Amino acid sequence: MRVLHTPDHDLTQRCVLVPTMGALHGGHASLIQAAVRRARIEGVPSAVSIFVNPKQFNDPTDFDSYPDRMDDDLAMCRDAGVDIVFHPSVDVVYPPGEDVSSDVIIPDVASKPGLEDTYRPGHFAGVCQVVSRLFDLCAPSAAVFGEKDWQQLQCVRTMSRLQGRDLQIIPAETVREDSGLAMSSRNLNLTPEARIQAVAISQALFAASNMPTPEMGESLMHEILIKGGITPEYAAIRPADSLMPLPDPSRNPYVPCRALIAAKVGGVRLIDNAPWTPVAYA
Ligand code: PAF
Repeated sequence: MRVLHTPDHDLTQRCVLVPTMGALHGGHASLIQAAVRRARIEGVPSAVSIFVNPKQFNDPTDFDSYPDRMDDDLAMCRDAGVDIVFHPSVDVVYPPGEDVSSDVIIPDVASKPGLEDTYRPGHFAGVCQVVSRLFDLCAPSAAVFGEKDWQQLQCVRTMSRLQGRDLQIIPAETVREDSGLAMSSRNLNLTPEARIQAVAISQALFAASNMPTPEMGESLMHEILIKGGITPEYAAIRPADSLMPLPDPSRNPYVPCRALIAAKVGGVRLIDNAPWTPVAYA
């Protein structure tokens, strides 16, 4: 396994990329395994980028407290059979004095009211900027993104299509702890009590899937979260691709939906989501 701080021929000749901010966990491991498998089939190197992107944090304390576990991250990549770890500095990603964001497209799905943009304004502008830049630097033929960041996945998918990139975005399912808690680098910042409390998030998502309408699903999610001592930023059910607020998606049985939650638990912001199909049509 090679660790590169600037891209070289191997990276720019096509690769299968997993973009990450490090602090790798079991969820990343499944993204990385998918990338390694795909890279072997394509006969190109597998690559994991590790770069904590300052532009996607609208809260400086969140950026400062983002976990750094480089040694563990490298060990995980090595064990998974990754060919290249790309660990650039801020100056490589955003060279001073150079405009590297002229072709960045921030798709509409980034700014759907009541979801991430309402609570983290500018977050997806930062994500689109860094992902676009990583795609320029590494030239992947495919890139793997986790479904846990559902809105991010839709943004990246749409941006890449609108930019006309010759690149496949591969989604990877959320990996959960036995308790149901979605694996996340931020879980490292949870106290043991908060970790138990946070289980209400996945419980709410799964319980909502038994409800016949989105309104009932949303109110059940709120009820379960509040009972668990959690006040969500949002607990919403939206069409899975557009994330557009619809009056009643359950009236259209052909629109697959997603239940999405964001909430701070013990001061740590967590997000999670799950597929939602109106019970009448399931
Ligand atoms: O999902 C993440 O870890 C980040 O948002 C990403 C895609 C690596 C961009 O910094």
